[in-house]
Amino acid sequence: MLLLLYLTTTIPWVSSSGPKRRSAEEKPPNILFIMADDLGYNDLDWKDDTLHTPNLRELAFSENTAILTNSYVNQLCTPTRSAFMTGYYPFRVGTQNGVFLHMEPSGVPEMFPFLPENLRGLDYSTYLIGKWHLGYCRKEYLPTSRGFDYFYGFYGPQTGYFNHSADQYHRDLKRVVKGMDLFEESGDGNSIPDFNQKGVYSTDLFTEVSMSVLDNHNTSKPFFMFLSYQAVHPPLQVPKSYDKYCSRVKSRYRRIYCGMLTAMDFAIAMLIDYLKSANLYENTVIVFTSDNGGTVDFGASNAPLRGEKDTIWEGGTKTTTLVHSPRYIKKGGERKMLFHVVDWHATLLGVAGLNVDSYGDGINQWDYISTGKARQRRFQFVYNLDVHGSAIRDGDFKLILGNPDRKTKSDRNKVRLYRITVDPTESKDLSKSNPIVVRRLLSKINELKKYMHKNVRKPLSLSGSPENFNGTYSSYWCQ
Ligand SMILES: *[C@@H]1O[C@H](CO)[C@@H](O)[C@H](O)[C@H]1NC(C)=O
Ligand SMILES: *[C@@H]1O[C@H](CO)[C@@H](O)[C@H](O)[C@H]1NC(C)=O
Ligand SMILES: *[C@@H]1O[C@H](CO)[C@@H](O)[C@H](O)[C@H]1NC(C)=O
Repeated sequence: MLLLLYLTTTIPWVSSSGPKRRSAEEKPPNILFIMADDLGYNDLDWKDDTLHTPNLRELAFSENTAILTNSYVNQLCTPTRSAFMTGYYPFRVGTQNGVFLHMEPSGVPEMFPFLPENLRGLDYSTYLIGKWHLGYCRKEYLPTSRGFDYFYGFYGPQTGYFNHSADQYHRDLKRVVKGMDLFEESGDGNSIPDFNQKGVYSTDLFTEVSMSVLDNHNTSKPFFMFLSYQAVHPPLQVPKSYDKYCSRVKSRYRRIYCGMLTAMDFAIAMLIDYLKSANLYENTVIVFTSDNGGTVDFGASNAPLRGEKDTIWEGGTKTTTLVHSPRYIKKGGERKMLFHVVDWHATLLGVAGLNVDSYGDGINQWDYISTGKARQRRFQFVYNLDVHGSAIRDGDFKLILGNPDRKTKSDRNKVRLYRITVDPTESKDLSKSNPIVVRRLLSKINELKKYMHKNVRKPLSLSGSPENFNGTYSSYWCQ
């Protein structure tokens, strides 16, 4: 077997018990992993009924769906996607600090194999459609160099939904640089820009591409498709035809945001119908989740949670996660135990039939998701560790050390403690009345800091300017 398990010291933080599961004799399932971008915790129509997400609602409340009600991610795009792909916390990889920008010569260190590389070792075909955001300046960082057989989408943090073009201020040039960010890779980091989709809304584009990729998929192998929608990240853009579903939303920004969400909801329904018609549905495990919380200034709501995207409050880090499988989940409903995005790597290897308890910093929670009975449990996790601010969860408690968001600069050594199980909105700081818990969790943070990888972020480079690449944010310009 070609599986590349990355062997290193694993943080002794997970408990494991019970019998090991034998990998299935049957054909391993396909995996369709749908990740929304910046979806607010409150932003589904069963939470805010002025929104319109009928298809996600139907999916969520199907008897074949597990809803992970304590599902956590990192506070931003690059850290969460890095954790998903590597199975390690961002602070162990160097991706804990902010996001990679266009023209930034950074990437996730190559010593960490990505999930599709490991799934390929289990004979999966692997496809990424949509957002990447894990480095693009050289061939080795590109999706098809990191385990995907095929990629279609964009490399950077943000781009226009219709023109697929991103404007970014460059400090050295003292002006805005514009470039198109839409590429196709057919393998081995071979990237070509696609100039032909101007005017096509990215949600529709990525859905169409996904269906055509599956049309060409050889069904003698299972597939892992990571459908990484641009929605509902800013800029606020949606075709006019969605206005009618959102007329009850009062605020103008949230009305547009609502339309973007509905467009994604309809697209997901179309894809599920496609799977049914292509006879792929029964044996596909479908996941829906988001990479971090929403941005309130751009129409999102994380109510009732405190904070938003780019904060380590619950509103930046707790997300909606659904797992649907007609074949494996017979009795769905809520799964309340803690789940963290680092768990996907081990969990999806488990879905693929591999008998693993853990991988990197994550544990295999597939038994729990599929049956509701846990073979191993997560009691603790790291929200993030960074020079600016850190937070960890331990049982009932969450401790925040330093600044909970990057806009705050003054709380460098401040400690906050919340009993999150009874105070999910982080309203009552208990640090003064619980010195023993505080001391224990602070020493845990200090211990974890020994595993800290140097931040891999770098200053922007003009070598990556679209002006050198026919107006695109192309690759192959850094060492
Ligand atoms: C592309 O669209 C975005 C979002 O509307 C806009 O900010 C940007 O200026 C556009 N870029 C170009 C080159 O037209
Ligand atoms: C599909 O893959 C199998 C196994 O690799 C191969 O034998 C078969 O020829 C492929 N079918 C097509 C249509 O490419
Ligand atoms: C350069 O960009 C234009 C569109 O902006 C495109 O039509 C043309 O094919 C590109 N040329 C090359 C060499 O990629």
